[in-house]
Amino acid sequence: MIQKLTIRRPDDWHLHLRDGELMRGVLPESLRHFSRALVMPNLVPPVVTTDDAIRYRRRLENALPAGNDFRFLMTLYLTETTDPLDVVSAYSDGVVSAVKLYPAGATTNSDSGVRNIARAMSVLEAMASAGCPLCVHGEVTDHDVDIFDREAVFIESVLEPLRRALPDLKVILEHVTTREGVDYVESGGDRIAATITAHHLLINRNHILAGGVRPHYYCLPVAKREAHRISLIEAATSGNPRFFLGTDSAPHRTADKETHSGCAGIFSAPNALPCVAQVFDDHDALDQLEAFVSLNGAGFYRMPVNRPTITLTRRQNPAVFPSLIKTPVGSVTVFDPGTPVFWRCENDPLEAKKPGAESGLNML
Ligand code: NCD
Ligand code: ZN
Repeated sequence: MIQKLTIRRPDDWHLHLRDGELMRGVLPESLRHFSRALVMPNLVPPVVTTDDAIRYRRRLENALPAGNDFRFLMTLYLTETTDPLDVVSAYSDGVVSAVKLYPAGATTNSDSGVRNIARAMSVLEAMASAGCPLCVHGEVTDHDVDIFDREAVFIESVLEPLRRALPDLKVILEHVTTREGVDYVESGGDRIAATITAHHLLINRNHILAGGVRPHYYCLPVAKREAHRISLIEAATSGNPRFFLGTDSAPHRTADKETHSGCAGIFSAPNALPCVAQVFDDHDALDQLEAFVSLNGAGFYRMPVNRPTITLTRRQNPAVFPSLIKTPVGSVTVFDPGTPVFWRCENDPLEAKKPGAESGLNML
C-alpha cells in the first residue's frame, strides 16, 4: 500500500478568492498546497476589463506573504458588452488566462452575466482566433428547468451549438457534476476539458438533503445523485488529460449560508488536496493523482508544470480539519468531507514560515 507520495505542486484551476478582508482571510489556505490558481472574476462589481484584472491581481499580490511566489492566473467576466479587442490584448499580453461565461443569474454574483449568447458572439469569435480559453458555468437558468437537469440541458441547448459554431474555441466545462457532462467532454475532442471539484467527488445530493438540510454542502452546480458522483470519480481517476482539479472553493461567511436563503458555495481550499488524495486512494488510483491535480490543467492551458513538489503521507489516524476559518468579516465554514481522510501534506512552506499560525495547523 502506498504510504507516501511526492508529486509536482498542484494548481487550482477554479478558485474564488473574493476581495478585501475576506480575501485576506481565505488566501493563505490556497497557498499551503497550490502553486497557481485560476481566479474567478465574479466580484461585485465583476472583473470585466483588462484594467479591472490588473487592479484585482495587484490587490491579490499585495495580500501575499513576503517572498511567496504564488501565481494568480486572472480571468475576465464575459458580458454582452465586452470589447473583443480588450479581451484579445489582455490574453496575448498574458494579463488574463481565460474568460468566464456565467449565464445571467446562474450562480453567486452572476447578474451581469450573459442573457443571450448571440450578443457575445463577436468576443467568442475573437477568443477562438486568439486561442483564449472560455471557462463555462454550464447551467441554464430557466425556471422551468429542474435544478438537477440544468447542466445536461445547458450542454445540449447552449454548449453544443456554441462549439459547433466555433469549433476552434477552447472550452472548459467548469465544475462538471453529471455523467452527461463527463460523456460530453470525453467524446468532445481536444478543445474541450472539464474541471472537477473535491466536493463533487465526495458528496451526492443526499448529503445536502437527507436527514436535515445542510447548507454547507449547497453549491452550484448542486451535487447530483450517486451515479453521477461515480462518473466524476471515473473521469478524474482515468488519466484522461482533459479532466483536472478546480476546487471551486467559494467562501461565504457562515452566517450568509446558515439562513433562509443561503448562498451557494463550498469552502474547500484548506482540505481539497488531502480529500482528493483520499478519493484516489479509495479507488486504487493514486498513480493518477499527479496527473489530475498537477499536470493535466497546465497541459490544457499550455503552461509549464510547477517545478516544486509536495509530499503527501498516509497517516494512521484520520485528519481533524479546522471546522472554520476566522476572518475579520466573520467565520467561513470549511468543507467537511464526511468520510475519514488519512492523507496529509508535508513540507508546507507557508506553515513552516508561520509557526503557530491559527488556521489549518491541526491537519498538517
Ligand atoms: C460560486 C461563488 O460563490 O462565487 N458558488 C458556487 O456555488 N460554486 C459561484 C460559482 O462558481 O458558481
Ligand atoms: Zn465557481
